[in-house]
Amino acid sequence: MNGLDLDRIPQHVAIIMDGNGRWANNKGQDRVFGHLNGVESVREAVRTAGKLGIKYLTLYAFSTENWSRPMEEVNALMDLLLRTLVSESKDLFDNGVKLQTIGDLSGLPQNCVDSLNEAISNSPDNHKLVLTLALNYSSKWEITSAVKALMGSGISSEEVDADSIAKNLATAGMPDPELMIRTSGEHRISNFMLWQLAYAEFHFSSVLWPDFREEHFIAAIADYQNRDRRFGGVSQQKNQ
Ligand code: FPP
Repeated sequence: MNGLDLDRIPQHVAIIMDGNGRWANNKGQDRVFGHLNGVESVREAVRTAGKLGIKYLTLYAFSTENWSRPMEEVNALMDLLLRTLVSESKDLFDNGVKLQTIGDLSGLPQNCVDSLNEAISNSPDNHKLVLTLALNYSSKWEITSAVKALMGSGISSEEVDADSIAKNLATAGMPDPELMIRTSGEHRISNFMLWQLAYAEFHFSSVLWPDFREEHFIAAIADYQNRDRRFGGVSQQKNQ
């Protein structure tokens, strides 16, 4: 149908949605116009993930570094998040999408936290897809918090291992992403899931986020399926 091998769809895809500002500038509009149009790409990415049978989709929606943007832009992003949660959550849940977040929610405006908590508590038990929004998230914050939690638990240094660290990350219980997509032609990881992406394949798309459509998502999965995943060992592909 779409040329993909449906037996090798990644379980977890993480996306750095980038290029909203440039997309808007190219149209002679302000940056917020780009974010507004980025919401349609979020919708389409969720729909496509569901259609392809991806189980976890994680979107980098707001980083701890994004607070340094002009106040009007930060406020507009928070407002957009709030309005999107209110307008979309029923549709998400009717379609079996469970919503959750990673990041330091205590830094977000209270009305956003309330809307998030309401949307999360209404999530369906029987879900097809887990949609994780990374909000006020950075990987260094997450790893630092995990180290603090481990130290606070009284664990001995001999007991600290990759497993105990992973269990204290915001993503505890989720599989690591097999594929990370970043749009807008930037080739950086920007403090996003540094631990969890240790063995992920990276797909960099030149498309700006508001233009990111199903065909681009499918192209990223096709690119992933053409990679020879070795995990530091030998080829996993047959006849090699
Ligand atoms: C990056 O583009 C985009 C963001 C920091 C925000 C992403 C937000 C949305 C897509 C809309 C709301 C999302 C949800 C989940 C409701 P940029 O501003 O860094 O673009 P630039 O690199 O061209 O400046």
